[in-house]
Amino acid sequence: MNGFGYVENELFVERVSVREIVQAVGTPAYIYSEKALMDSFGSYQEAFLGQKSVLAYAMKANGNMQILSLLGRSGAGADVVSGGELFRARKAGIPSERIVFAGVGKTESEMREALDAGILMFNVESPMELDMLSRLASSMGKTAPVALRVNPDVDPKTHPYISTGLKKSKFGIPVEYALAEYQRASGLPGIKVVGIHQHIGSQLTQISPFQDAFDKIVEFAHLLKKNGISVSWLDIGGGLGIRYGEEKPPTPADISREILSRLKGLDVGIILEPGRSVVGNAGILVTQVLYLKETSVKMFYIGDAGMNDLLRPSLYGAFHDLWPVVRRDGISRKGDLVGPVCETGDFLVQDRMLPPVEQGDLLAVMSAGAYGFAMASNYNARPRPVEVLVSGDRFTVIRSRETYEDMIRGESVLG
Ligand code: LLP
Repeated sequence: MNGFGYVENELFVERVSVREIVQAVGTPAYIYSEKALMDSFGSYQEAFLGQKSVLAYAMKANGNMQILSLLGRSGAGADVVSGGELFRARKAGIPSERIVFAGVGKTESEMREALDAGILMFNVESPMELDMLSRLASSMGKTAPVALRVNPDVDPKTHPYISTGLKKSKFGIPVEYALAEYQRASGLPGIKVVGIHQHIGSQLTQISPFQDAFDKIVEFAHLLKKNGISVSWLDIGGGLGIRYGEEKPPTPADISREILSRLKGLDVGIILEPGRSVVGNAGILVTQVLYLKETSVKMFYIGDAGMNDLLRPSLYGAFHDLWPVVRRDGISRKGDLVGPVCETGDFLVQDRMLPPVEQGDLLAVMSAGAYGFAMASNYNARPRPVEVLVSGDRFTVIRSRETYEDMIRGESVLG
């Protein structure tokens, strides 16, 4: 992983020792590398250099204010899916004209906030939502720039929970109804059709689903054009996978080649919504081993980070590599790395050969930058972890560990 590696037997993030960071901030801790983040975003910029394009970072992957601010300063826009994300993005300095707003359940007040902000585009996911946006924009004396999210019915060949472009999924408008809906949208007050949106799923590690989806969106753009509706943006979504283990996902350059080669005859800019591939391999979660427990069937390594800190293994059976923070001699053993949460599903690693580990050791759960902290919760009244950013030879706390007081803020005890 770029930005993460061993010096002698000690894990470093850029030029800072993980052990030293953790001595200062405790565990569990999310640690990010600014270099890794900037390099992965840079590879998208390079791939689309000279093209009319907006790289709308899918901030659901990691919405930390400092990460947003760094990306925003580098030219990123944001793909937001809630009023809360819109608030964060703008507060972090991402200009509204680089913000797109997706999601099947936008509320009226969220739409109002986005209209007030003057965002680049609403990615509308249903006819009823379109009607609501039309009414609202008209009543505010505004015009909402709109793309319809077209569901192309392409199998992204990824985990079912993160497949979004299949017929049976709740997302978007089925491609067979999309033309009629675009025609209707063109006549609605308060609506200006400006784009087409598509997003087929996440952690895509093969190029063929992208090719199929690009074929369909481009074909659809031509169909619209033939019907007198021209758009200025094709928003092709996110979804590019990363290496958690042995995957060999395509690169941003591969994606760019595939889409740009299909644009002949269309005068459009490209919007991308990459999330995981920007931040996933820029972060780790560090946990300390509290206890080792051997039963007649299993070896359990019990750490201080659980499913509330990193949900992906429990929710998707996701694989995250595990690296010792300080390598030691000894024998590898097969076992589970579990957390303290009162659920059998509370594991970070299951039935895998683990490095030699003793009580008190620190372990780094790799590739945890995306959908890590973002999906963390307070389940079991566990404060969410601290977040730390390493830049060269410096580290900075970019979100302090939650306190018990933080967790009860806003609750009332009725006497
Ligand atoms: N655009 C839209 C409309 C999306 O729904 C998503 C992700 C993205 C962009 C960004 O996709 P990415 O580039 O990150 O693959 N929690 C799951 C992933 C859920 C993805 C949801 N949508 C996980 O941990 O694997």
